[in-house]
Amino acid sequence: MQGITLALSKGRIFEETLPLLAAAGIVPTDDPESSRKLIIGTNRPDVRLVIVRASDTPTYVQYGAADLGIAGKDVLLEHGGAGLYQPIDLNIARCRLSVAVPKGFDYEQAVRRGARLQVATKYVHTAREHFAAKGVHVDLIKLYGSMELAPLVGLADAIVDLVSSGGTLRANNLVEVEHIMDISSRLVINQAALKVKHDLLKPILEAIEGAVKK
Ligand code: PRP
Repeated sequence: MQGITLALSKGRIFEETLPLLAAAGIVPTDDPESSRKLIIGTNRPDVRLVIVRASDTPTYVQYGAADLGIAGKDVLLEHGGAGLYQPIDLNIARCRLSVAVPKGFDYEQAVRRGARLQVATKYVHTAREHFAAKGVHVDLIKLYGSMELAPLVGLADAIVDLVSSGGTLRANNLVEVEHIMDISSRLVINQAALKVKHDLLKPILEAIEGAVKK
């Protein structure tokens, strides 16, 4: 397509991106929550949004199916970043990536005595790096959601997952025992598009960057 395609996921990322798009004069013509459309137009005929699964955003941008994408640092780290231009931190959808265990499980002691821990997570690459750097022995179990359930039913000793309000952990009797990193969403750009569509992209990128809250 001649114009610009921006890939993003519905929910928190979509909602928190709206003011940044507005700063660039871009207003979507549909709400993905209600319309179920996967391609959403905007007030600008040369800008459209595509609604993708959060973990797929970097893939659409990597292959050039989207020129731009908005994805969490968690997703980008797992993806590896091939074919993506250096991300701009949009400072939205902020949360943290943490290790959590059931209340009463002595994580520190287990680590000290060199126990091998079963850890359930969506973020296997990031978790592997974290535990390797700390010298903690882990078996990682890949899950795609509802990580908090795993320790409750004996699938894992611990989880590595995103924590925002902490409500999901509390509701499931889990506690955070380690903060791995702060997470926010970033704008990624297809490397080829940055060259070929430079004139179209430049004012949009500048307006978005200018609207980012520090
Ligand atoms: C995320 C995350 C936690 C929850 C944390 O899940 O995986 O489960 O939000 O938020 P809180 O600290 O405010 O409770 P999400 O709802 O995105 O679903 P998912 O299980 O598909 O990742």
